[in-house]
Amino acid sequence: MSGKILSGKELSTVIREEIKKEVEQMTREGNRPGLAVVLVGDDPASKIYVNNKKKACEEVGIQSFQYFLEEKTEEKTLLDLIDRLNRDSAVHGILVQLPLPAHINAQKVIDAIDPNKDVDCFHPVNSGKLFTGNPVFLPCTPAGCMELIKLSGVKPEGKECVVVGRSNIVGKPMAMLLMKENGTVTVAHSRTANLKEVTKRADILVAAIGKPRFITADMVKPGAVVIDVGINRLETGKLAGDVDFENVKDIAGAITPVPGGVGPMTITMLLRNTVTAAKIRENANT
Ligand code: GUN
Repeated sequence: MSGKILSGKELSTVIREEIKKEVEQMTREGNRPGLAVVLVGDDPASKIYVNNKKKACEEVGIQSFQYFLEEKTEEKTLLDLIDRLNRDSAVHGILVQLPLPAHINAQKVIDAIDPNKDVDCFHPVNSGKLFTGNPVFLPCTPAGCMELIKLSGVKPEGKECVVVGRSNIVGKPMAMLLMKENGTVTVAHSRTANLKEVTKRADILVAAIGKPRFITADMVKPGAVVIDVGINRLETGKLAGDVDFENVKDIAGAITPVPGGVGPMTITMLLRNTVTAAKIRENANT
């Protein structure tokens, strides 16, 4: 028996329709949300992500501003642009696509973004609010994973939740969101001993490792909800997640596909954060 397939593509369509209606209403009231996306360099994968974000904005009526800077752009130039965007009233959200070139200090750049415009939820003020359980923005990929877990019908409360991966973008904030929902959370990573024993305990397993098909069927508890954050390009050109989908789907109670799982949800949560940012500004002005 195959597990339920949690389609992020379908769920995204539903949520984006709601966002579109909200944006239409805000636009009528003269508060059209706007998102600025900044890309430094010409990494092909980043270019695709940035263009997908632009397309998604346009579909729901959010105004999109794109800035493509050369690879050799100086840190100061980028910081000046962020300063300008911080003060631009048409821009409610600012996203600097990562990774940045090595000569630029990414943390310094993130720190320069106005926390009220930090739709990635990467600024220390916003990660701090998330850490203390009172987030304003939700980190996009983890928030998308939570929506997919909700779709599975399994509630994290009282469940064993295992996150594999401890990055600032996914692993750590994911653990926060699962704890907020009263899950019992373990964060495993590349140095975890007996990883298989840990992952096999999970009622909810989130894979954010960055290695294709790393989570195999023998590492998964029968009936578990499996959320695959990985997007890995194989030598064949095909995309594969961090989970061995073909084999795990027969054991899992519910599982996300790659592509069409977490990916579209990340962008949908970015759109939601941009709407939130525009509302924060509107409220501040009234
Ligand atoms: N690079 C990979 N994922 C992300 C993300 O969620 N936000 C930004 N800004 N860069 C990324």
